[in-house]
Amino acid sequence: MISKRVEKVPHSGIRAFFDLVLGMPEVISLGVGEPDFITPWRIREKAITALEEGITSYTSNKGLKALRQEISYSLEKKHSLRYDPEEEILITVGVSEALDLVLRTILDPKDKVIVVSPHYVAYPALVELNMGHVLYLETTLEEKFKINLTKLKRLLKENPKAIIFNYPANPTGVTYSRKELEAIAKELSKKDLLVITDEVYEDIVYKEKHVSFPSLKGMRDRVILLNGFSKGSAMTGFRVGYACGAPRIIQAMMKIHSFAIMCVPTISQIAAVQALRAEKDIQSMVKEYKRRRDFMVKELNRLGLITPRAEGAFYCFSSLEKYKVKGLDFAKRLLMEENVAVVPGSAFGARYDSFVRISYASSFDDLKEAIVRIERFLKKL
Ligand SMILES: Cc1ncc(COP(=O)(O)O)c(C=O)c1O
Repeated sequence: MISKRVEKVPHSGIRAFFDLVLGMPEVISLGVGEPDFITPWRIREKAITALEEGITSYTSNKGLKALRQEISYSLEKKHSLRYDPEEEILITVGVSEALDLVLRTILDPKDKVIVVSPHYVAYPALVELNMGHVLYLETTLEEKFKINLTKLKRLLKENPKAIIFNYPANPTGVTYSRKELEAIAKELSKKDLLVITDEVYEDIVYKEKHVSFPSLKGMRDRVILLNGFSKGSAMTGFRVGYACGAPRIIQAMMKIHSFAIMCVPTISQIAAVQALRAEKDIQSMVKEYKRRRDFMVKELNRLGLITPRAEGAFYCFSSLEKYKVKGLDFAKRLLMEENVAVVPGSAFGARYDSFVRISYASSFDDLKEAIVRIERFLKKL
């Protein structure tokens, strides 16, 4: 009964691994990509009040008007970007739904999409589920996992319909300066393709302010900007995201969304309005992530697991080169022998077999203990 298309796409490498972890209560999990913070109280309180007031019906398919307006206002304030809340913003079930919608909207069978790698697990899977063909733009440790313009130019010659990339990035934490983004934008503007930028970690940056891709010169109308509340506001379970872009594409996405989803849960949307006003809560979480980042990058490098000092998100992408061990073997043994869970690099692209992703969205005490265990484990290799 299952279509060939669906059969062909493998399950997420992360989920399979973490189903194993769920049955092991002693484990320190540095695996799944979600904040260890509970959603700030001010945000939860709004959702509770909405329930108490009986706000339980559908919203507009586009999403709650107040939320679209607040997003529009926030993008203008942060990035001088103007999106019309009526025509150019769609509220989705996380960035996950937005990604699926945009690919469903633009792809015909065999259309090519560049995916910058190592990539978030869903990108190639969703391209393939929507019958597209993935062109991988693989970045290396030597390139600090940033897009190499020569490789980009080469892939652009294959006439892709779109490119998807994400910064600050999962799994590497890498982000880009304005100058670097401008150089990428210059290349992309030479071709007629849609740029899909997933900026869901935009709030979690440690050095320079995040520069949103559509805010670069000439980019606004070529970009579908995806963002959401899961990471910065620690709202993974609320499931709210959004897509912004040219009205024709957003309206086509809306059409699918209105048949498949109707609308995002109403109380989650109400909570999200409040999240856009909770800057202080976000700042205090980011301060703590930075303290952990500094600790983890220093310690992992001390142990010989080469780890670039990334300036965003909450991940270390560490090389196992020195220990001559594959990521999957490393992760399995570390889990079984020392009760620490990390994700094999191969989950983020076939060539990243000799890496692991280590999330530091865990308490400082857990991170310290994890380092003690990893050090003990490495001595056995
Ligand atoms: C890069 C990236 N995009 C999208 C998502 C999914 O986000 P959401 O919870 O908004 O669906 C994740 C979650 O890990 C992610 O890392």
